[in-house]
This record gives sequence, C-alpha cells and structure tokens, in this order.
Amino acid sequence: MTKILNGKIVSDQILAALKKEIATKKQKNNQVPGLAVILVGEDPASTVYVRMKKKRCGEIGIQSFEYKLPADTKEQKIIDLIKKLNHDPEVHGILLQVPLPPGLNEEKLLSLIDPAKDVDGFHPINVGNLLLGRACFKSCTPYGVCKILEHYQIPTKGKHVVILGRSNIVGKPLAAMLIQKDMNATVTICHSQTQNLKDLTKQADILIAAIGKPLFVTSDMVKKNAIVIDVGINRVEDKNDPRGYKIVGDVDYDNVLPKASAITPVPGGVGAMTIAMLMTNTVRALP
Ligand code: GUN
Repeated sequence: MTKILNGKIVSDQILAALKKEIATKKQKNNQVPGLAVILVGEDPASTVYVRMKKKRCGEIGIQSFEYKLPADTKEQKIIDLIKKLNHDPEVHGILLQVPLPPGLNEEKLLSLIDPAKDVDGFHPINVGNLLLGRACFKSCTPYGVCKILEHYQIPTKGKHVVILGRSNIVGKPLAAMLIQKDMNATVTICHSQTQNLKDLTKQADILIAAIGKPLFVTSDMVKKNAIVIDVGINRVEDKNDPRGYKIVGDVDYDNVLPKASAITPVPGGVGAMTIAMLMTNTVRALP
C-alpha cells in the first residue's frame, strides 16, 4: 500500500503548537508577532495565497498588516513602504508576494527587506547562510518539504534525492537544505536543459517535482517504491468544476501512485505546509 503523505495534518500540528507558543509569549512578555504582507497587482493565485496567509495569522494570533497595491504602483512607493516596515517595531516579518507585475525589479525589492525580517528566506544573506549551513530564515516551501519528510520519518541520509526544477523559491534552496549534515542526502537537480531526464529520475530514492508543469511526472519516470513529493500547484481547465478549473500537481498522481511507496497529494500535500512554515518563521523573528 502506498503511504499518502498528508501535508494538512502536519501543518495543522505545526500551527496548533505555534498558537500555544504565541499565547505564552503574549502572557509572559506581552509580545505579539506581526507579519506584513505586500501584494502588488491582482494575480489570482497570489490573491488567494495572501488571503490564506491573513486567515492563518488571525487563527493563531499573529497580527497581520496587509498592503494591497495596484499593478501600476511606482517602484519608489514600494521601496518607501519596505523601508518603513523595516523600522516598524510591530512588524517582525515582511513578505513581498512574487511574482511582481512587469516593470518592477523583484531582485532589488527583495534585497531591501531587512534580512532579520525576511521570513520568506529570499534575501541573498539568508540564501547564502542557508548554503553555508548557518542559522537563517529558510524559504517556506522547501522548508515545508523537509518538515513532511521529518514528520513521516523518511530517512534522507545517503539517499539519492532528484529535484525537478531549479527555481530560487524551491529547487535551489531545497537542494541546499538536503545536502546539509542534518539531512545528508545526495542531490541531483534537473531542469529544462537536462539530458536523459528519465535516466536520472529513475535513480531517485526520493523524487521531488517543482517545475510548474501539470502532470509531468509519469510512472515510467519513477523507480519502484520511490518516495514522490509533488510541489506543483497548477490550474488546469475543468468544465465539470463550477470554478471552470481544477488544481493538479506536477505529478500524474493516479498513474504514479501504485509505483511509489509514499506520495504527496495535490491539494493536501506540500501546499498546506508553505503557510505553516511562514508562520513558524514569523514567530522565530520575534526578538
Ligand atoms: N509566490 C509563490 N510562493 C511564494 C512564497 O512562498 N512567498 C512569496 N513572497 N511569494 C510567493
């Protein structure tokens, strides 16, 4: 029987523990963690994420500050906002939702966030410290993948982990986490220019898909009894759904399920973990 790795259960546990921790901090030190979220434009997926982040904050006792700006906002206005939030003592974490609308310099804006408030772990200082194995804020989605593996006691020591995707948000930081001495994995990163992809994916003890291509991974690419982690969240047309679309992962779940020893579903897998890790980082950002 294939084990279903339920990210919702793991994230609910993390959030419940955080809620207690936040209540204790409030009682003992009168401290309340604060998270500022900046959303520029109206990208539908980003709007949903931001709404979820605000909801979770409210549920566990994090104060949330939301800044919704129109897509044509001048870069200077965002720079001024980030600088103001860097100095606001009520704000412990700052998140700039990406992707940004065209014309805004994402790299520059993310670098302006105080690394001590960079709960997304996107600032070059945090990324560098992650690679060096030093204390830092870890990017939330890959951190969530590691937490799922930890929760289900899936060994990574000496295992061959093959990651599909080299994004700055998932693939690269995930590889950096897995090669550290607490996880001890051997990592291969594959991307759009990788040759003989299937030969590599078939070697994976743990296969992680983070490429944003719906249903890309099929059973012929998977070694028997591999662990399969699906980071993809893709909207595909579905006339039977009242929304007109459904959410699928990067893995062809039904096809891969019988071959894998464990697999994350979409939805209900890694997606639920990202916000739980954001909340974790925000609480850790308290002085
Ligand atoms: N866009 C997609 N995922 C994320 C995330 O984890 N953080 C931010 N800031 N933007 C995102």
